[in-house]
Amino acid sequence: MRVLVTGGAGYIGSHTVLQLQAAGHDVVIADDFSNAKPSIVKRLVALSGSPVTVYTVDLTDEIATERVFADEQVDAVIHFAGFKAVGESVAKPLSYYRNNLDTTFSVLAAMAKHGVRTFVFSSSATVYGENPVRERTEDMPTSATNPYGWTKVMIEQVLRDLAVADDSWRIALLRYFNPVGAHASGEIGEDPNGLPNNLMPFVSQVAVGRREKLSVFGDDYDTPDGTGVRDYIHVEDLAAGHLAALEKITVGDQPLSVWNLGSGHAVSVLEVIAAFGRASGRDIPYEIVPRRPGDLPAYWADPSKANAELGWTATRTIDDMCADTWRWQSKNPNGFPDDDE
Ligand code: WQD
Repeated sequence: MRVLVTGGAGYIGSHTVLQLQAAGHDVVIADDFSNAKPSIVKRLVALSGSPVTVYTVDLTDEIATERVFADEQVDAVIHFAGFKAVGESVAKPLSYYRNNLDTTFSVLAAMAKHGVRTFVFSSSATVYGENPVRERTEDMPTSATNPYGWTKVMIEQVLRDLAVADDSWRIALLRYFNPVGAHASGEIGEDPNGLPNNLMPFVSQVAVGRREKLSVFGDDYDTPDGTGVRDYIHVEDLAAGHLAALEKITVGDQPLSVWNLGSGHAVSVLEVIAAFGRASGRDIPYEIVPRRPGDLPAYWADPSKANAELGWTATRTIDDMCADTWRWQSKNPNGFPDDDE
C-alpha cells in the first residue's frame, strides 16, 4: 500500500517508516519539521535503500493538506503529527488544541474527499487519566489531566463518532505507553529539542556527558522502590504494532478498534537508571527531588488484546531498550545534525 505517515520525520514516525518500507509499502511523509531535523530524511533513505516522498507541510492548513492527497495516491494514513509535551501543553493550551485537533481535522477531511478511509491514530496511555487500577485495559473510561492528554481524548471521541456515522472507515486507536529505544543501527533515535522532558533521553544525555545529573522526581510513591513505575516499550516494537494494526484493519470489517501498545512490564525509575548503567558502562549521577506535579505513581499496559487480535507482542527488554538508546546516543552525542551531512 501507499501509506501517508504524518509526523513521519519524528521519533516514532521515522522508525515506523522504515518498517513500512521493509514490509514492502510505499511511504509518503508529511511533516512540518517543527520537532524534527531535515537531516533525518537522508538517514532514512540510507537505512532503507528506498526513496521516500517528503512534504514539508503545516497540516493545520486544510488546503495544503488536501494538495498532498491530490498529488499522491494514498491508500492509508498513519497519523503521528502533533505536539506531545505535557508540561508545554499546560503552558500553551490553545497551541496544543489548535495544532493537534486541526491537523487531525485537515487530514480526515482530505481523506474523506479522496475516498481514503484507513486511519491509524497515534493515541496515548495518557487517556486513561488517573484511574486507580494500575494495569490499563482498553475498556477503561478515558479522561485527562492536561491539555495534551485532552487532545488525545477528544480526537479519540471524534474518531468514534466518525466511525458511527460512516462505517466504511477503518480506524485504529493505538494507545502507547512509554516509547523508548532506537533503531539497532544507532543512526536514528529520540532527539528531543532542548531539555528532555522524558526519563530515557535525559538519562541518556547524562550518560553521554551532556547533562550533569538526573533529577528523580520523588521516591515516596507507593511503588516497590518508591520511584515512579511505567511500561516502557521499545520504539521498534511500537512500530511493529502499527504495521500489525494497519494490516488488521485493512482486512477487517470493524469501523473502529482500540489497542494498547505496551510491554505489560512495570519498571521503576531506579530500575531504568540501573539498566542504563549496565548498557552504557557509565555511572548515572542522580538526585532525589520532589515529585513532578501531575505525575502518577504507577501504570502499565495489559497488552493481551493487541497480543491476541494483532498477533503482536513487545519482545524487547528494558536492557535492550537501554542498549539501543546508548548506541544511538553515543554515536550522536548531540542528536541529529542541523544540516544535511
Ligand atoms: C517517566 C517516569 C517520572 C523525567 C509522558 C507523557 C505521556 C507520554 C510519555 C506522549 C516518571 C520520571 C522523568 C525525569 C524522572 N507522552 N522522571 N526524571 O510522564 O510517564 O509520560 O511521556 O504520549 O503522555 O505524560 O514519561 O519519561 O516523563 O516519566 O524521575 O527527568 O520517570 O516521574 O515516573 P511519563 P516520563
